[in-house]
Amino acid sequence: MKRLTVPAIRKRKGADSEPLVMLTAYTVRMAQLMDPHCDMLLVGDSLGQVIYGLPSTVPVTLEMMAGHGAAVVRGSYHALVVVDMPFGSYEASPEKAFESASWLLKQTGAAAVKMEGGEAMADTVRFLVERGIPVMGHVGLTPQAVNVLGGYGARGRSEAEAEKIVGDAKAVAQAGAFAVVVEGVVEPIAVAITDAISCPAIGIGASARCDGQVLVAEDMLGLFDRTPRFVKKFDDLAGRISAAVQAYAGDVRSRAFPGADQIYAPKN
Ligand code: KIV
Ligand code: NA
Repeated sequence: MKRLTVPAIRKRKGADSEPLVMLTAYTVRMAQLMDPHCDMLLVGDSLGQVIYGLPSTVPVTLEMMAGHGAAVVRGSYHALVVVDMPFGSYEASPEKAFESASWLLKQTGAAAVKMEGGEAMADTVRFLVERGIPVMGHVGLTPQAVNVLGGYGARGRSEAEAEKIVGDAKAVAQAGAFAVVVEGVVEPIAVAITDAISCPAIGIGASARCDGQVLVAEDMLGLFDRTPRFVKKFDDLAGRISAAVQAYAGDVRSRAFPGADQIYAPKN
């Protein structure tokens, strides 16, 4: 199976298109398991919290994204791999963003980057796209701006804020983004954005009317210890891992492990 391309993803727009399926992946084995079922894998900077135990995505570095991005590309052959641009690697100027993004794509083999921000980032999105780097936008609740926003609450509750977020989505879409993540906005605003832009809107805490959905894999698997309202838990991996580790500990302490099947007999 050939890897999905940016133009193929971009075409998946509108109520008649099959919704795009996207999950985060940070490691090779998770990428291998998710790849057959997903259209896109996102190497999200959420790995800061999920993998490294950092308090937010703000401390995440380009080097961290490169290592995990390369692993996810090695573990997939079908899904389009998108790598997050970490905080501080792109905001200062289009030139800085191009330098960071091109380095990330060279290091990882991924096809596209994602960057947070709306109108303020539109020129940067255009600069990259015109120079050969596909960009996915990300508007609404933008976690890298947590220190400005003051938290992770849903966005777009006031009319002014809603208008600003719709404007942000339009700006990055018009600048050439091939898709836009719409995160943590009240449902009618997610619908308005989906209708207002000509590329796919990928929802997270948004709306089933979006052109696709993305979740942090560890959240939907019930593995991470913090789950926002917008997460549906499709499993309880944390519970299952605890039970397995408890069983292992019991077997070690009772000398039931290793058993006859797990030991090497001497050669004769
Ligand atoms: O970093 C991430 O996982 C993300 C998604 C939640 C959209 O940006
Ligand atoms: Na992110």
